[in-house]
Amino acid sequence: MQAANLGIIMKEGQWALIAGSAEGLGEAFTTLLAAQGFNLILADRQEEPLKKIADKIERKNGIKTVRLRIDLADDSAWETCMNAARAVDCRILVYNAAMSEVKPFLDHKAENLDRFIKVNNRTAILLVRAFAGHLRDSGKPGRILLMSSLAGLIAPVFVAPYAASKAFITALARSLFYELRPYNIGISVCCAGIIDTPKFLESKAEGSIRRADPAAVAQYALRMCGKKAVCIPGWMNRLNYFFLSRILHASLSSYFVNRAMRKMYPTVSR
Ligand SMILES: NC(=O)c1ccc[n+]([C@@H]2O[C@H](COP(=O)([O-])OP(=O)(O)OC[C@H]3O[C@@H](n4cnc5c(N)ncnc54)[C@H](OP(=O)(O)O)[C@@H]3O)[C@@H](O)[C@H]2O)c1
Repeated sequence: MQAANLGIIMKEGQWALIAGSAEGLGEAFTTLLAAQGFNLILADRQEEPLKKIADKIERKNGIKTVRLRIDLADDSAWETCMNAARAVDCRILVYNAAMSEVKPFLDHKAENLDRFIKVNNRTAILLVRAFAGHLRDSGKPGRILLMSSLAGLIAPVFVAPYAASKAFITALARSLFYELRPYNIGISVCCAGIIDTPKFLESKAEGSIRRADPAAVAQYALRMCGKKAVCIPGWMNRLNYFFLSRILHASLSSYFVNRAMRKMYPTVSR
């Protein structure tokens, strides 16, 4: 397994916090970091999957875990995470969890949109602020990885709240990449394409769709963390994004993206 780009802060017993750690891409981050010897603070909302993954990596990798069963939409979720991080001198944060839904914008209820903002943005920005502040004050280097999506860059139809929330954290990381560098804090945002996770499968997309392996995405994202402000896993995704953003006119680019979206979700587009 290729080592993540976290070597400079890796030492015996180092801690990392993963927000959204039990399933899907979160499970891949957890498995990868545990295999590299990190002790882990695992934050997730469901008791069973959290216990299952924590027990497994403790047994297999001989590391320690702290389990936080929280809903990242809660107002105090960032403080709960931060208290746990401070208690063990944690220096790596992966904000992975997100709310996502494919449906027409006008079908969303106000509470639902509020939840998008809370999980994907509010808790993320407050935790990043507290975590980076803690690193700066302690004078120690650290890494922050925010999981985003190509949707935040290309804004397809039927995922407006998701795409908008992902654009928010993408801009956050881009801006902070240079601002936090003097403190030896590396922050990156990973804008992934489609990944083979239970959450994606739940969306019931139609057709034969290329889905990235979660382990490969997690490995790439950790390797790039602190090196580049924005990273896109998969050469095909990078190539597609290059064409959509640099070669095609914006309206043509949206036309192709939206056509693909309507094909994947024919029942939503009706
Ligand atoms: N899957 C894709 O195709 C894809 C593509 C591009 C980017 N991404 C990004 O990659 C990240 C991971 O995606 P994913 O597909 O693995 O799905 P996910 O829904 O983010 O699930 C990852 C983990 O986070 C947990 N989680 C979700 N919402 C939570 C909350 N409010 N509080 C606490 N824990 C919560 C999930 O638990 P539950 O099982 O209970 O929900 C799961 O264990 C997200 O940021 C997503 O936007 C995914």
